[in-house]
Amino acid sequence: MAKFLAIGNAVLDTIFTVEQHPKEDQEIRAISRENRVGGNVNNMLYVLNQLGHEAAICSTSATDTESKQLITGMQERGIDCTHIQKFIQGSTPNSIVTLNAHNGSRTIVHYRDLPEVSFDFFAKIEIEEYDWIHFEGRNVDNLQGMLNISKTFLDNQPISMEVEKPRENIESLFHQANLIIFSHHYAGAKGFNNGEELLNDIAKLAPNSQLVCTWGAKGVWYKALNAKVEHLPALPVNPVVDTLGAGDTFNAGLLSKLSEGASLSEACEFANHLAAQKIQKMGLDDILNAKPENQPIANIKQLSKAKATVIDLNNRGGVILIKQDEEVRAYENNCPHQNVPLNEAYKIDVNPFDQTMKCSVHDAFFKIDDGECVEGPCWGEHLTPVSIRMDDQGDIYLV
Ligand code: FRU
Repeated sequence: MAKFLAIGNAVLDTIFTVEQHPKEDQEIRAISRENRVGGNVNNMLYVLNQLGHEAAICSTSATDTESKQLITGMQERGIDCTHIQKFIQGSTPNSIVTLNAHNGSRTIVHYRDLPEVSFDFFAKIEIEEYDWIHFEGRNVDNLQGMLNISKTFLDNQPISMEVEKPRENIESLFHQANLIIFSHHYAGAKGFNNGEELLNDIAKLAPNSQLVCTWGAKGVWYKALNAKVEHLPALPVNPVVDTLGAGDTFNAGLLSKLSEGASLSEACEFANHLAAQKIQKMGLDDILNAKPENQPIANIKQLSKAKATVIDLNNRGGVILIKQDEEVRAYENNCPHQNVPLNEAYKIDVNPFDQTMKCSVHDAFFKIDDGECVEGPCWGEHLTPVSIRMDDQGDIYLV
């Protein structure tokens, strides 16, 4: 297992899951909100850590209250935060992400006013301690010097760089990296239609670097040293739940396999699988394990208008499902009166005429339509709705 040091930005992400991305001048309501620590190298290191490697970040932080949250979050992800340069000016970088509940696509609005890692700060790190150094392709002025000292002091350790967006003069750094990973945003902005065109062009600038270009649903192109460009199609995934951090997961898979001595083609194959696995679940936790979002929790044929069906989800509580017209309503199985399951004392009685269902504990009646308590001890309060989606076969999934 290897010891990775990655240099880049750490970010606090606020993720709103939405039915669809908002249009300009529109106001919409999110289905759910989640705060996560993010940023490309931070996400990548978290996955590397889950793959059994040691992970350290070199980044900057502000001194506002959010910065504590960010650093604690990274430490909880098992990331060594020794090399964080603190700044009094500026605030914790933040991304507002909208995540489409139906196809997992994400849009990101990013704000930062925090300086990036300085050359002097980086130069004090004992980089020889690490087996692999990875850079986010940004902060071009300082990166030049960081790459220079990395090249000078490291004999065997690979140096990789991710190039997500075009930046002035970034091309002047390419020859310094052993591995460069491009995103399709960079390729598209440079006028290339696919990864093959891009990598053939880049090979002229960086003939001694291994090259990779990821292109979402179009798959991955890669070029090993002295080899021609190869293509791997993306793996079919249904449903796509969350694409935020999919590229970072791919990078983790790639670096992990290469550090174990795999060929570039084996490493891309593994990374492609890992990224496909990631997009089937929310977030980056427990990425190597089961994908609960991908299992249906029920089928509409099991449900009725006259009966509330309770689905127990192990450690995730229970969900009440009930048909109304041809739709399915879903609520947490938790009565707001005393926070107990509605079926704690007896089954949940349904009145199909009033369109209500009754908590068995203290007889609170809830409207099936919107979960409002219309009679009983928690009058005016609501059951908490649960986001679900149904596919063409009537299989019902948590969103
Ligand atoms: C995902 C991500 C987010 C972050 C944004 C920064 O790849 O790293 O976690 O907010 O991109 O550009």
